[in-house]
Amino acid sequence: MTLGPSSKLDLAIRPRRLRRNATVRRMVSQTQLTANDLIYPLFMMEGENQKVEVASMPGCYRFTLDLLVKEVQEAFALGIPAFALFPMVDDALKDNVGTESYNPDGLVPRALKAIKAAVPESVLITDIALDPYSSEGHDGIVKDGVILNDETVAVLVKQAVMQAQAGSDFVAPSDMMDGRIGAIRTGLDGAGFTEVGIIAYTAKYASAYYGPFRDALDSAPKFGDKKTYQMDAANSNEALLEAELDVSEGADIIMVKPALAYMDIISLLKQNFNTPIAAYNVSGEYAMIKAAAEKGWIDEKKIVLETLTSMKRAGADLILTYFAKDVALMLK
Ligand code: PBG
Repeated sequence: MTLGPSSKLDLAIRPRRLRRNATVRRMVSQTQLTANDLIYPLFMMEGENQKVEVASMPGCYRFTLDLLVKEVQEAFALGIPAFALFPMVDDALKDNVGTESYNPDGLVPRALKAIKAAVPESVLITDIALDPYSSEGHDGIVKDGVILNDETVAVLVKQAVMQAQAGSDFVAPSDMMDGRIGAIRTGLDGAGFTEVGIIAYTAKYASAYYGPFRDALDSAPKFGDKKTYQMDAANSNEALLEAELDVSEGADIIMVKPALAYMDIISLLKQNFNTPIAAYNVSGEYAMIKAAAEKGWIDEKKIVLETLTSMKRAGADLILTYFAKDVALMLK
């Protein structure tokens, strides 16, 4: 068949003009993922010169502090500015009230000091919640099967002040207790830490996507689930309420977690609040990509870049991701 002039459509607007080659596409690209957007979550454990791969998270390790420092040095050199630290705590140190969570000689404060000594410009973010320290595997104190709110918040404040003393730049309450952001802000300010920020896990959903993380830290709940404090996947209005509370109580950055199944929530918070939005590309999201890639069913690098770029397009200013180092390398 010959294509004559008659086969031309009379179109004033042809969107494909802006997709015609890589250079034009680069000119009109709305979203650029950079290493600056990344926060690298790291697992750590006691010991020396060891790293143990997390079974359900291939390529992710629990590091002893000496190797953790090296990992941070490498990642910082690749342009990753910030790190979120998660401890694996010995069972013997766990109790119902999370006493170890505010021990000034614990794993987290020692990690903060070691990393700050080696990489002083790194930004260190520490999780606030009782679960890695709790004999019940819950984020709060348990009484008669119920997670106590106000009593837990009092412990979280102690944990935050201890972490600030040890050098944390941002504390990140992931516990979902009511009123914790205000109480932690007051506690930090009262102890003289007005410069230490708060990254609030604002819309944290009760999610099966956290499974591999709980393997990594051996922190799964010993009974029940986390649905009396973490949010219901069916709800979005609640995310707006939680964000209003967290911002008014002093959160500097608000977070949506998980990210992939909650892109609408990222977008909703972006449209309604002026604080930066963080999205947590959680352990289950990482595991799904790794598993499919291992089977040769997907192209891991392309899927990772597409996924994280889409999170940014949805409204995430910052992304916590176990792929951080891989991505920083890809973007180099
Ligand atoms: C602890 C905490 C969890 C995660 C971050 N902080 C697990 C949970 O709430 O059970 C999950 C992170 C991930 O799955 O990657 N409160």
